[in-house]
Amino acid sequence: MNVTLFNAKPYDQQFFREAAQAFGHDINFLEVPLNSTTAVLAKGAEAVCVFVNDVVSAAVLQELAALGVKLIALRCAGYNNVDLIAAGELGLSVVRVPAYSPYAVAEHTLALILTLNRKTHRAYNRVREGNFALTGLMGFDLHGKTVGLIGLGQIGRVTAGILKGFGCRVLGFDVNQSEEAVALGVEFTDLHRLYAESDIISLHCPLTPETLHLINEESIARMKDGVMLINTSRGGIIDTKAVIKGLKCEKIKYLGLDVYEEEGNLFFEDQSAKVIQDDVFMRLLSFNNVLITGHQAFFTTEAMRNIAEITLQNISDFEQGKALTNQVRP
Ligand code: NAI
Repeated sequence: MNVTLFNAKPYDQQFFREAAQAFGHDINFLEVPLNSTTAVLAKGAEAVCVFVNDVVSAAVLQELAALGVKLIALRCAGYNNVDLIAAGELGLSVVRVPAYSPYAVAEHTLALILTLNRKTHRAYNRVREGNFALTGLMGFDLHGKTVGLIGLGQIGRVTAGILKGFGCRVLGFDVNQSEEAVALGVEFTDLHRLYAESDIISLHCPLTPETLHLINEESIARMKDGVMLINTSRGGIIDTKAVIKGLKCEKIKYLGLDVYEEEGNLFFEDQSAKVIQDDVFMRLLSFNNVLITGHQAFFTTEAMRNIAEITLQNISDFEQGKALTNQVRP
């Protein structure tokens, strides 16, 4: 099948070229992101392959459908950037990679927690400068702390298992309570109790109309003083301005983000020679207890290999008229 792959970075090309040998699809790699200006570049393709920040709005889908595109293949798990209703109306199928490595994201979540807590980023710089003073580097034992996880799907459950290994008490909130999570030792509760009792809160639910700005002024007020807040899920789950207020009054003592509400204008590109215009983001960067990574939680060799193979399998299944196990519907 002819596939146009938008937003192609060198690492996408590497893993998709390697995996493609087994599938026989003809992939046209384009560095530009998909949006209403670039959609025309999919001419001649029956499938387009896109990532988290590509714009897959109704207008873009209309343009793609008019060009003869039949399939939108997401090379990611989240699909909040796709107008699924418009896709359905236009007869376009949408597939995704529901799981490629929950370990990658869960382990990165722990990297954020441990770095914020034990300040290894600061220690690294100090030691390289011959400064062995410990002042300012004190952390706390994770053992015995209460961690609240919102969303106990694949990533939330792996995170829970790791935290259990550290000796944490894990509280969970999910709209669907899983037996698997209970078996891991997760204590399901409501959001009120989770906010009130958690020393660390980590978000692992999808971005939906229900979870948009779930973390806001009101929910922050209900959290413990000095809480650590971690988001490796989707930026929109957090009201960033409310979190900045929480940081300023020291209600939130640590913030770890791999995602940001307005990341579409920033992440995945080298912006180091530019003046960043996003004042909210720059305010976040000014806190020494805020750690931000640029949506890299998924970025492991294992995950990239799985993403490429599952995406190409999804495309083959569509081409061969097979049942689409990874189809996303409204
Ligand atoms: P999943 O679908 O296995 O689990 C999501 C869980 O959230 C489900 O158990 C679901 O019932 C629950 N949920 C849905 N609505 C909820 C609500 N309103 N309140 C509480 N829980 C709710 O998804 P998975 O694989 O665990 O991924 C979770 C999220 O992580 C994805 O939606 C995606 O946004 C994000 N993600 C981030 C990556 C990164 O690189 N930073 C990579 C992969 C995923």
